[in-house]
Parts: sequence; structure tokens; C-alpha cells
Amino acid sequence: MSDSAKRGFKVFTGKARCAICHSGFNFTDNGFHNIGLPENKDEGRYAIKPIKVMKGAFKTPTLRDIALTAPYMHTGEFATLEEVVEHYNSGGKKSMGNLDPNMRPLKLSKKQKADLVAFLRSLTGDFREVTAPELPVNN
Ligand code: HEC
Repeated sequence: MSDSAKRGFKVFTGKARCAICHSGFNFTDNGFHNIGLPENKDEGRYAIKPIKVMKGAFKTPTLRDIALTAPYMHTGEFATLEEVVEHYNSGGKKSMGNLDPNMRPLKLSKKQKADLVAFLRSLTGDFREVTAPELPVNN
């Protein structure tokens, strides 16, 4: 891990508060949140659970191998991880009266943003070839 990525981990868990939602070994709380995406017009989880805190809420995705899976968000509105970090830094847009209370302007410095992106890139694992196992034949 580079020094920048190590500093980025501190930003991720500290000032940027990403780990509030992207928690645990898969970097997800398995919860649903409205993170104020400018292009979201979808009521999200509310369609299934019609309570106010689900308005415009989507499931927190894992961040493993995140550098390989652009574009980002269910809307695909961000082409790069830098754009994702700018979104969070802005605090998100007011959305359906249900912007998650953990979304707020972060006031990250240029260096903190770059370190955060370096950390996100470090979550890419070696390519694993997946082959179907040979199953026993049941005679
Ligand atoms: C309030 C909870 C919450 C916080 C805080 C949060 N996230 Fe997220 N994150 C989500 C949710 C929910 C999504 C999926 C949103 C969607 O697609 O509608 C998401 C999506 C993402 C994605 C895109 C994943 C993909 O596969 O498209 C990235 C990258 C990401 N978050 C990184 C971060 C970083 C970096 C921070 C800190 C600056 C952060 N998140 C803070 C809940 C959160």
C-alpha cells in the first residue's frame, strides 16, 4: 500500500466519514441510503418499503475492486472516482426530503481528496479466475 493510500484510509474512516456506511470487511453496511445524487429520480427502496427514510434510498454497494467498475452509482452519473469524491465533498443534493443525515459538506483539501482516491484504488485485488468446479456425477 502506498503512503498516499494509507493516508487515504485515515481520511476514509475519519474526516470523510465514508466508513459510516461503507463499513466492515466488504465496505458496506448492507443498508439503504439517499446520498443526494443530482441525477437520481428513482424512489429506490421506497417502492418496496414505503416509509420516509427509504425515499430515494439505494443499497450501499461494496467498494472492493471499485477502480474496475466505472461508471459509478446506479445512475452511472460519475465516470471517475475523482468525481465520486467531489460528490461526497459537496455533501450531496437535497433529494425527496430524505437526504441521509450523514451526508454533509466535508471540506476536504486537494491532498485529502487525492489520498482518498488512492485508497479506493488500493481496494483492487489480483484478478481471480473463476472456474466452475467439477461436480460428482450422481448415478
Ligand atoms: C450515508 C451513507 C454513505 C456514506 C456516508 C458514503 N457512502 Fe458511498 N455509497 C452509499 C450508497 C447508498 C451508494 C449507492 C448509491 C446509489 O447508487 O444510489 C454509494 C456508492 C458509492 C460508490 C459507487 C459504487 C458503485 O459501484 O457504483 C463509491 C465509489 C462510494 N460510494 C464511495 C464513498 C466514499 C469515498 C465515501 C466517503 C467520502 C462514501 N462513499 C460515503 C452510501 C454512502
